[in-house]
Amino acid sequence: MRNINEHTITQAVLQGLAGCEDTRLKQVMSALVRHLHAFAREVKLTEAEWEAGIRFLTATGQKCDDKRQEFILLSDALGLSTLTVAQNHPVSAQATEATVFGPFYVAGAPQLPQGADISGGAAGEPLHVRATVRGPGGEPVAHALVNVWQADADGLYDVQRAGLGQPQGRATLRTDEEGRLSFRSVLPVPYPIPTDGPVGMMLKALKRHPWRPAHVHFMIEAPGYQTLITHVFRNGDAYLDSDAVFGVRSSLIGDFRSHPAGSRAPDGSTPDQPFHTLDFDFVLEPAQA
Ligand code: BEZ
Ligand code: FE
Repeated sequence: MRNINEHTITQAVLQGLAGCEDTRLKQVMSALVRHLHAFAREVKLTEAEWEAGIRFLTATGQKCDDKRQEFILLSDALGLSTLTVAQNHPVSAQATEATVFGPFYVAGAPQLPQGADISGGAAGEPLHVRATVRGPGGEPVAHALVNVWQADADGLYDVQRAGLGQPQGRATLRTDEEGRLSFRSVLPVPYPIPTDGPVGMMLKALKRHPWRPAHVHFMIEAPGYQTLITHVFRNGDAYLDSDAVFGVRSSLIGDFRSHPAGSRAPDGSTPDQPFHTLDFDFVLEPAQA
């Protein structure tokens, strides 16, 4: 194989995949090569531009550590995460929609009891959440494992703060026998995705804003059901129609209601400061046979 030119290079690389015995790997790599080459042809990529592209990807990798995942952020900001989620979780008439995972989930969050305050002392206006987890027939899903994570009143996740001694705004909880869940936290606010890395530079160059509408993340796992990874967004948020990572679904907008000081809270208390409540019902999709 020699004298390869711009017209024969794609076929030459594809021929190089002929011996691959993993059919899925072969399919994915063939499509990747075809589309990458088509992209370079379409924009007539210059050498200087590809060098800049490689510098960008290198910087993206170098920005990653155990707390920061710049490649997830890049995938999110380019809509690739939403495309992948959407095509693997078709909208069903009954089940709660899935949305992007994001880079701020941390495995092993403390398991807290029903009614617990998961804020860990994070700043923010008090929020009382009551939720139910059901199957498509309305049956309660008892003892479902629910991971919750969210940003504080400054729009920061605990992992974005250096030196915090304890998790803030994250926990795992279990639904009760009736599939109910309740916890206290703080009101989520809109926040910018991290802009101090290559993805931030990209958004700036493209004149795109980095904001996400206020939301709380949920991951719900239960035997016999598909794991649901989703958010509940705050109604009325200014960024619901321009989420920097394209994650908003109308069905995931929750009614975060404001209550004046002295009102009766869902846990029976009468807080002496204003607070908010959210009621939301999740419906899980049965596991695939
Ligand atoms: C998040 O909601 O935590 C998130 C999602 C995508 C990119 C950045 C943050
Ligand atoms: Fe988030």
